[in-house]
Amino acid sequence: MSAIVLVGAQWGDEGKGKATDLLGSRIDGVVKFNGGNNAGHTIVIDTEDGRREKYALHLLPSGILTPGCVPIIGNGVVIDLGVLFEEIDGLEARSVDTSALVVSGSAHVIAPYNRTLDQVTERFLGKSKIGTTGRGIGPTYADKMSRVGIRVQDLFDTDVLHAKVTGALSLKNQILVKVYNRKAFDVDAVVEELSSYAERLRPMVADTSLLLEQMLDRDETVVLEAGQATLLDVDHGTYPFVTSSSATAGGACTGSGIPPTRISSVIAVIKAYTTRVGEGPFPTELLDAKGEILRNNGAEFGTTTGRPRRCGWFDAVIGRYATRINGVTDFVLTKLDVLTGMDEVPVCVAYEIDGVRHDELPMNQADFDRAVPIYETFPGWTEDISKARSVDELPRNCRDYVDALEKMIKAPISAIGVGPGRDETIVVRDLLD
Ligand code: GDP
Ligand code: IMO
Ligand code: MG
Repeated sequence: MSAIVLVGAQWGDEGKGKATDLLGSRIDGVVKFNGGNNAGHTIVIDTEDGRREKYALHLLPSGILTPGCVPIIGNGVVIDLGVLFEEIDGLEARSVDTSALVVSGSAHVIAPYNRTLDQVTERFLGKSKIGTTGRGIGPTYADKMSRVGIRVQDLFDTDVLHAKVTGALSLKNQILVKVYNRKAFDVDAVVEELSSYAERLRPMVADTSLLLEQMLDRDETVVLEAGQATLLDVDHGTYPFVTSSSATAGGACTGSGIPPTRISSVIAVIKAYTTRVGEGPFPTELLDAKGEILRNNGAEFGTTTGRPRRCGWFDAVIGRYATRINGVTDFVLTKLDVLTGMDEVPVCVAYEIDGVRHDELPMNQADFDRAVPIYETFPGWTEDISKARSVDELPRNCRDYVDALEKMIKAPISAIGVGPGRDETIVVRDLLD
């Protein structure tokens, strides 16, 4: 049995979709355990006739593109049903078979009022906004914790659904009308909208933790795929500038129902530099021409919202933190090719905060806000590395950069991305060994 957790090490968009896809046909199932359609995972596949097919997945696990792999939406995910069916239809139109998809009956549903609340709250916060994706993620997780959420299983009993929507809206409509000056939601209209998805959804719904246990008992290999990343985790991230779910390895267990004793390894995907979308501290951010070069060379524009991603140098303090919080056994280092052509490549090795050196992330968020990076600078390289398929084929300076990162982040780099395509990868060590 093999249950492999795959998480993001930084602030998201590290290339988790490509990394999951890379494990490919040797995987029997992929379960998404947190987040919702705030995520955007891009997978690029080279077809046999030489075309490049690009897929942007939001709610569906990356395993959906691998024939024979069971894609599972776990209980920890929040589902916008309209988006789910749009995504399924989009893939079916491109001849991807989505019929194996399984959805947890305990996953929560993003109700229309939660999308509205996400957007009006952000507007209300003004300069203090989080910069959310506006998809209703935060309010839906808030409902889950407040025990007024709507779950997938509720859609199949109209009386239960009606009672739950009535309960949720009794307070929310007051807030929408009295605080935000918006129109109240009509209970019947919400129930009708959510119920309209029920029949199409019904055959996909199952007890996914039971299904996963059965798969692991049969010695099958399952990947637990995270949305977002370590520093966006609601507990371990740069709170309050985080998402509202548990995106780290611990969340993989609660969000899927797979117990910790069955996890065999934890893969973290880490970019060769750093990006972030939305507001919040980012010590190594580059606001100059170099940041612009990283954004353009790395095509750093959000898969979900299209927003330009903030870009900066690699932060080894964050890498080490990701190793600690997730118990990383292997790193997948991505987008190394994007650094080609830089005359030098600085790496943040520690922070200076109020004149004091910090080798670890400071405990207080206010301190992190003032963190000034201490850099160690490496010489760059100009050679095209996109065709390299072994570490030996990388230029000397590039190899030295990778070796230095590996020492700093305290876990082995087992694969290296040198381009967006499936094959544009250096496999240093088999991730499924
Ligand atoms: P995710 O959210 O972690 O799955 O990452 P995204 O898909 O949002 O962003 C990663 C982007 O980088 C996508 O456009 C990928 O196609 C691309 N990508 C992934 N790995 C590499 C790599 O090694 N090199 C380059 N140039 N692009 C990559
Ligand atoms: P993937 O899975 C990057 C960010 C948003 C915002 C904060 C809260 O593609 O790596 P939310 O809508 O979740 O309440 O927004 O989290 N964010 C992401 N940033 N990649 C993502 O997902 C993200 N999902 C949410 O930009 O700062
Ligand atoms: Mg993404």
